[in-house]
Amino acid sequence: MLSTTIRTNHLKELTKADIGKVVKLSGWVNRRRDHGGLIFIDLRDRYGITQIVFDPTIDEKSHGAADKLRSEWVITISGKVRSRGEGMANPNLFTGEIEIEVTDLAVESKCPTPPFSIADEKIDVQEELRLTYRYLDLRRKELKETLIMRSKASNIIRNFLTDNSFLEIETPILTKSTPEGARDYIVPSRVHPHHFYALPQSPQIYKQLLMISGMDRYFQIARCFRDEDLRADRQPEFTQIDIEMSFNTEEDILNLTENLVTKLWKECKNIDLQTPFKRYTYKECIEKYGTDRPDLRFGMEFVNVEDIAKRASFSIFTAALESGSIIRAINVPGGASLSRREIDELTAFTTGFGLGGLAWMKVIDGALSSNIVKFFDQDLQKELLEKMESKEGDLILFAAAEESTTHQALDHLRRHIADRMNLIKDGDLKFLWVTEFPLFEMDKETKRLTSIHHPFTAPVPEDIPLLDSNPLHVKSNAYDLVLNGSELGGGSIRIHNDQLQKKIFSLLHLTDDQIEEKFGFLTKALTYGAPPHGGIAFGLDRIMMLLTDAASIRDVIAFPKTQKASDLMMSCPSAVADDQLEELSIERRKMLTTK
Ligand code: AMO
Repeated sequence: MLSTTIRTNHLKELTKADIGKVVKLSGWVNRRRDHGGLIFIDLRDRYGITQIVFDPTIDEKSHGAADKLRSEWVITISGKVRSRGEGMANPNLFTGEIEIEVTDLAVESKCPTPPFSIADEKIDVQEELRLTYRYLDLRRKELKETLIMRSKASNIIRNFLTDNSFLEIETPILTKSTPEGARDYIVPSRVHPHHFYALPQSPQIYKQLLMISGMDRYFQIARCFRDEDLRADRQPEFTQIDIEMSFNTEEDILNLTENLVTKLWKECKNIDLQTPFKRYTYKECIEKYGTDRPDLRFGMEFVNVEDIAKRASFSIFTAALESGSIIRAINVPGGASLSRREIDELTAFTTGFGLGGLAWMKVIDGALSSNIVKFFDQDLQKELLEKMESKEGDLILFAAAEESTTHQALDHLRRHIADRMNLIKDGDLKFLWVTEFPLFEMDKETKRLTSIHHPFTAPVPEDIPLLDSNPLHVKSNAYDLVLNGSELGGGSIRIHNDQLQKKIFSLLHLTDDQIEEKFGFLTKALTYGAPPHGGIAFGLDRIMMLLTDAASIRDVIAFPKTQKASDLMMSCPSAVADDQLEELSIERRKMLTTK
């Protein structure tokens, strides 16, 4: 029941069954129509729309006042529910068969002309304006429904995890840096001059400490903060569904969270997902797609064609192989229809990712055709067609460059082509678990090992002996869940032995003193009886993007930041007064002015 002392019903409630009832309704003026003496208003609230009618023969006073009502004014009316009459019903509206004849009108608040239409479902205005007036934007149907769906999703998650004995536990926001690979947001301490808190990049260490505390199963719908370059699916503050459990293996976490995700899609979208989700190892992903978050909605897997290129007389390929480059090809279904100019455009696209050029062959009339086909004899051409599984009308594209350049360029190219050629089926959902990530990668700039996930990730036990001799070959118990090319979540089994944790820190070039200073509390806690444990965190905002088909993460967050990390509505970040800085023992650096 949503009746209150001000209203008897909300605006998606009254039907034919209520005809004759006297009601009080409140809401926003969605649209107003004047029809020869009668004034019709679509009154709107969160739930829906109800039509109200001001008739001078019923109440002259309210009819006179209704003349002044404008869009987005807030009103409360009293009146009687009546049938709309023959042929006047609106089948698209829940309340479409009835209307209210108004006997009393009270204006709760007025509103200037809004900067954009709230009533129209599609509006064409700059996002900056929508963000500045976010409270008005949130009145619009699309965003409102997203927030309703988001609230529903949070409840499903909470209920599912609670039913599975997970405890919801809050962890601090003012904390110490957690290394998740981004820059920290830091907060100066007034009480401890020149000392800073960091906002958590994730609750990672706390959730591990909760396992050491014996909580067994933890979850939190947790706010995380990362100062990093923003993209369509990244915000400086975002929300994780953060999960940790004890006495489990990777398999337990994958099964549990697969059930959670399946439940979300069923209850939010009524879609039955096929389980178990597909799994690829990290190595398989990189070989087939050049990325650890591949979009599986379209083919175009990379094919290693070095064996064929080696036997052809195309000097660019043979020279590339001699210089240590790799050669990969993708088969573009139906791509033979692309014109020379269109293929040139694809080539130009890949040069942006460092590729020198793009060789190509079309499959026309059962044979390969292009300016380089002559360098491949008939047998090689046949072998190539078979290897690429190319069909009539397809296009084969070849990249020959250093490994990471080839992978990066073809990864982007495959997605670009799928987009351009509309190869993605509407509503297609391709979930993928990526497993067996390497524990480390080499930072190209510093030439030092860094963690691929985070430094608390456990190496697979059989690879521990390789830590000193061949650390880049050590595999980890880490996993990511990918949907349609977007990383929805990631996690791992953690290290629960202090000596192994210290060993990993030292491989990451931390000195004993640094380990003690930064993570001493953790290595100490690990000596006090740590259970085997592991977990995962999902990006709730990204899940919501996929559940609502939103193109931008900003469309699933009530009050998001712009691409430049600012809040246009509140004008934040903003300057602070000198005395505030002084209290924090912070001195403003003089701005340098150039003449
Ligand atoms: P990770 O860093 O992979 O793991 O983060 C988990 C998930 O959070 C989402 N995500 C983001 N969403 C929006 N904006 C961002 N800036 C952003 N950064 C990350 C992604 C990602 O998959 N503590 C580990 C988890 C664990 O090991 O349990 C962690 O935070 O969907």
